[in-house]
Amino acid sequence: MKYRGIIFDLDGVICSTDEYHYLAWKALADRLGIPFDRERNNLLRGVSRMASLDIILEKSEKTYTDEEKAAFAEEKNTLYRQLLKRMSPADLSDDVKTTLDALRKTDLKLAIGSSSKNTPFILERIGLSHFFDAVADGNCITRSKPHPEVFLKAAEMIGLSPADCLVVEDAHAGVEAAAAGGFDCAAMGDARDDARANWHLERFSDLSKCLG
Ligand code: BG6
Ligand code: MG
Repeated sequence: MKYRGIIFDLDGVICSTDEYHYLAWKALADRLGIPFDRERNNLLRGVSRMASLDIILEKSEKTYTDEEKAAFAEEKNTLYRQLLKRMSPADLSDDVKTTLDALRKTDLKLAIGSSSKNTPFILERIGLSHFFDAVADGNCITRSKPHPEVFLKAAEMIGLSPADCLVVEDAHAGVEAAAAGGFDCAAMGDARDDARANWHLERFSDLSKCLG
């Protein structure tokens, strides 16, 4: 096989939390009178919670203190976690489930590399808490994508060098992070046509075509 490990982004790759992120940020933006729509929501893919808030506040006429910003992020996250409670293993698509089950039968190491601090909660909701060999997430990094830290951490956790791993991403920030870290990248969803990726996936199960 061309790779010895696969590092998956979580949101938008393994499961779809986009709508919940959007609804929670939209509620905050509306309360603060800041314009925000689904197109701007796309700019937040792969980006950390505080960096996402900064992008939203770019459209605000007011400036806010660090304390106010921390409270806004907390407010969004509380609502977001309420919405995440609606998720269950049924939210894992058949395409993702079948592919992950097939990959689990190979010798490949499988890891998560996500900017989200809610990764453990989301994995629990979708029934994948114990599925991966390693989970690197927003709780164990200081620099969010497009910095490669989370992928480098995931590779280290599964004992592989970046050259041996394929990263699967749906965010342009994540594709950039993979390239910066020396990883091959399979792009899908919003980032599918990103020229910096080595593979362009129509659907998750197309991963099999990258493994040779
Ligand atoms: C990423 C999402 O996975 O996690 C971003 O694509 C999100 O949209 C980021 O901002 C941080 O998420 P959380 O759950 O820590 O607020
Ligand atoms: Mg993503």
